[in-house]
Amino acid sequence: MCLTLLNAALATEVVCVRRYTRHALCAAGPGAEAVKAAFGRHAREEQGHALRLAERIQQLGGRPDFNLGGLMSSGDTHDEEGRTLVELLRENLAAERVVIETYRELIPYFEERDPTTRRLLEELLDEEEAHAKALHTLLEP
Ligand SMILES: [Fe+2]
Repeated sequence: MCLTLLNAALATEVVCVRRYTRHALCAAGPGAEAVKAAFGRHAREEQGHALRLAERIQQLGGRPDFNLGGLMSSGDTHDEEGRTLVELLRENLAAERVVIETYRELIPYFEERDPTTRRLLEELLDEEEAHAKALHTLLEP
């Protein structure tokens, strides 16, 4: 059960890496530099989250699952050129909110079962909250 939950979190992080990377490449127009920089930074941090989750799964005797299955982002196959910065920022902010909710729900589950994993999830949650805050700031006029 724990490993299934952690593998689901891993898949979500991998989807985030891909989305931020694609969006860093397609962000264009006035103000794009700051947005590109944020997406690039977030992509690297999400990659770090994925690695830490995969390592934890391994430590627990599981096998990190990089098969995204049903989580494959539809954006992976879409042409995203021409989307505005606001659209990109909103999509990422919405995704961050989902991830934040997921971690908030997961943390109590690990509270007593596995405090080490709980601490890891709390650290990831902190960074996701920082991402949401940064996106929110970029969305403000
Ligand atoms: Fe993350």
